[in-house]
Amino acid sequence: MERLQKVIAHAGIASRRKAEEIISNGRVKVNGEVITELGTKVGKKDVVEVDGVPIYQEEPVYYLFYKPRGVISAVTDDKNRRVVTDFFPEVTERIYPVGRLDYDTSGILILTNDGDFSQKLAHPKHQIDKVYVAKVKGIADQKNLYPLTKGIVLEGKKTAPARYDIISSDKKSETSIVELTIHEGRNHQVKNMLQAVGLPVQKLKREKYGELTLKGLKPGEYRRLNAKEIKNLLHQAK
Ligand code: URA
Repeated sequence: MERLQKVIAHAGIASRRKAEEIISNGRVKVNGEVITELGTKVGKKDVVEVDGVPIYQEEPVYYLFYKPRGVISAVTDDKNRRVVTDFFPEVTERIYPVGRLDYDTSGILILTNDGDFSQKLAHPKHQIDKVYVAKVKGIADQKNLYPLTKGIVLEGKKTAPARYDIISSDKKSETSIVELTIHEGRNHQVKNMLQAVGLPVQKLKREKYGELTLKGLKPGEYRRLNAKEIKNLLHQAK
């Protein structure tokens, strides 16, 4: 038996706090009866409805996926392009990505059916470091990258300080490989940050998410996260 707010949160409908509000507002039925008491316990066979729509009670599952380039971070696409869930044909749970990587970005993406977990990780205040490796046009040096360590203004809002490492530069092709560590998740953030310091991104990969790496995976492959990894992520998201 699980608490009603947890079941609703796990179904990805709302965070646990929002789920409590939904229950208190009389929008939830269990086996046809409106329940407003928080903490009511429900079992797998109970039919839970939110605003008249039944929710499925699934075991929470957590996957680490190596997203290839050319795949949409979504579960459907109106232009019929490949989506990340196409790579999980044998997974029956209704998983979806936590946050997004651009269509042309590769690397680590977490997928889950646990709405509560997903909201915690995606919360703008969380502090989980993500490491990106970018191939950029131009010769990266301390001078052009330094402003990123102080934060720069993008669309009217300052970015949090980032860390960088210059992996290599190639004078002939005028390109560099730069590693950038950030913990925010604004749209196209890495591309926009590097563009802003005169180093447009040609190729981008997310290599680390907290402690998680792509070790042992090829593009398009996934593995389950273990209990310790899940716990660590939640701990870091605090
Ligand atoms: N920053 C970007 O610009 N793109 C991504 O896909 C992820 C981070």
